[in-house]
Amino acid sequence: MLLIVLAMLGVVYAAVGQATTADAATDTAATQAQVTAGHKLFQEGCSSCHGLGAQGTQNAPTLIGVGSAAADFQLSTGRMPLAVPGVQAPEKKIQYNDTQIAALAAFVASLSPGPQIPTAKDLDYAGADLALGGQIFRTNCTQCHNFAGAGGALSQGAYAPNLMSASPQEIYEAMLTGPENMPVFSDQTLTPSDKQAVIKFIENIRTEPNPGGWSLGSVGPVSEGLFVWIGGLLALIAAAVWIGAKVR
Ligand code: HEC
Ligand code: HEC
Repeated sequence: MLLIVLAMLGVVYAAVGQATTADAATDTAATQAQVTAGHKLFQEGCSSCHGLGAQGTQNAPTLIGVGSAAADFQLSTGRMPLAVPGVQAPEKKIQYNDTQIAALAAFVASLSPGPQIPTAKDLDYAGADLALGGQIFRTNCTQCHNFAGAGGALSQGAYAPNLMSASPQEIYEAMLTGPENMPVFSDQTLTPSDKQAVIKFIENIRTEPNPGGWSLGSVGPVSEGLFVWIGGLLALIAAAVWIGAKVR
């Protein structure tokens, strides 16, 4: 029975996997001129690590099949070009202008089909379901990014960043491409409307008033516990001193 179930799982997975690659069409909007310009920028700024044909080297992964969404995400958050190799490529000053980013993204997309940069329609989250977004966020994102999107530490010095400044496009692209330790949430896992709901939820927690008055960094029980511990201890000492003073 177990063998049969496992074999069936394999067959179903292969079928679904194929559907995923078939779905990811090449970017049609990119012009040949953009691809050529992008190729040139790539040779100058990226090929030393990613290889002349973007096939990847010892120092950097291949970019074949990562799609325009990954290139746009990495470049528009300043993560690429990487300055110093390390555990994680941090967000930093953006190195290219919008035209150059579009050209580089077009070049990466021309290598092989992959996830595309979300369209304005994909990013329109006005009608999204906020409660559903919260549910999806709590099941899929909080274990790394914290319940309030404040970010958190991962193993071996890596970390999940704070989500308070990411734009809707960055959030969408991050889910679509799964940078570094983050899993990929393809359109099969989270449909475009699920992704819009998540974006709406993240936008909402940024503006949510704090009934306690002070969030203590929204990092959870550690900071809250520490505050109560120190505050409580001070109160106890003050009470002891007061009692002592009364006795005398
Ligand atoms: C100093 C070496 C270095 C340079 C230069 C560099 N990269 Fe990278 N790149 C890396 C490494 C290492 C990773 C893997 C770690 C990561 O994803 O952050 C990576 C990851 C990526 C990814 C994500 C791949 C994925 O699987 O999602 C993209 C896209 C990318 N680079 C594009 C570029 C582009 C475009 C340039 C040129 C503007 C560039 N990189 C320059 C080292 C480099
Ligand atoms: C296993 C841990 C993990 C999970 C689960 C995860 N992420 Fe991430 N996420 C990361 C890491 C690590 C990075 C940073 C990657 C990098 O720096 O290249 C990241 C980056 C991001 C960014 C980019 C932030 C920025 O400032 O550029 C966004 C947005 C994001 N994640 C959203 C989400 C959402 C939404 C979910 C749930 C659907 C999610 N993540 C689930 C680990 C995770």
